[in-house]
Amino acid sequence: MVMERRKLVGKVTTGSETFNALMGGGFETQSIVELYGEFGSGKTQVAHQVAVNVQLSGELGGLDGSVIIIDTENTFRPERIIQMVEGLSPSPDPDRPWDPEEFLKNIHVARAYNSNHQILLAESALDLAEKLKKSGKPVRLLIVDSLTAHFRAEYVGRGTLADRQQKLNKHLHTLMRFADLNNAVVLVTNQVMAKPDAFFGDPTKPVGGHIVGHTATFRIYLRKSKGDKRIARLVDSPNLPDGEAVFSVTTAGLLD
Ligand code: GTP
Ligand code: MG
Repeated sequence: MVMERRKLVGKVTTGSETFNALMGGGFETQSIVELYGEFGSGKTQVAHQVAVNVQLSGELGGLDGSVIIIDTENTFRPERIIQMVEGLSPSPDPDRPWDPEEFLKNIHVARAYNSNHQILLAESALDLAEKLKKSGKPVRLLIVDSLTAHFRAEYVGRGTLADRQQKLNKHLHTLMRFADLNNAVVLVTNQVMAKPDAFFGDPTKPVGGHIVGHTATFRIYLRKSKGDKRIARLVDSPNLPDGEAVFSVTTAGLLD
């Protein structure tokens, strides 16, 4: 069963060859990819780029898919999507140049106002994906940016930590179901201080550890380097060696 499902796994290009190589070709479907790092480390930028790339055809590193974004910090920027579409290599069909409006139409954004709302939106994403399967582009990417901000803000103090973890685990379970049912990438962001905190317990262990079924989890630690350079470190993955990749965040998007 698991072997059969693995054959269907698709990969989405990040736009950077070195980042792709680190990930074994790109971000995998049927998995949760967690981008964690400090403010400004590029988590939201990577999310925007993948929301563009997943819409491309297979030959161009995409999955011909549409996107759902659960935006908890109001950081989704349509203008940034337009810039990134304009930054793509030219469309292979000269009669059909890239249309940024088309790309925007395939990105369904919902603002989450608190953690309960976020949980509800993840559940309704399952319904929306079902609808889009029948009419339109199937959803191959679900982004939760940020996964943790509301939970962190609402659950302060030791007494509530267990509650928080329990709720977050349930939420992750929904996200894993989404990844499996839709053969989709689930991309989540998690802001941490320069020294990774213990939000998920041991930071070298995969998020949501024991509740994982066959859904793979990749954890990527992002940090700033000189200028527009960013370093991605694969911290934990089911089948890939740990390593690092350097890429740039430019006006045109993610580049080597
Ligand atoms: P938090 O959400 O605060 O935790 O940060 P983040 O990790 O999501 O950071 P984000 O992805 O927002 O990265 C911000 C950085 O990306 C900025 O400091 C810029 O270096 C770069 N960036 C953001 N927008 C643009 C843009 O339009 N053009 C270019 N060239 N760079 C951008
Ligand atoms: Mg962000």
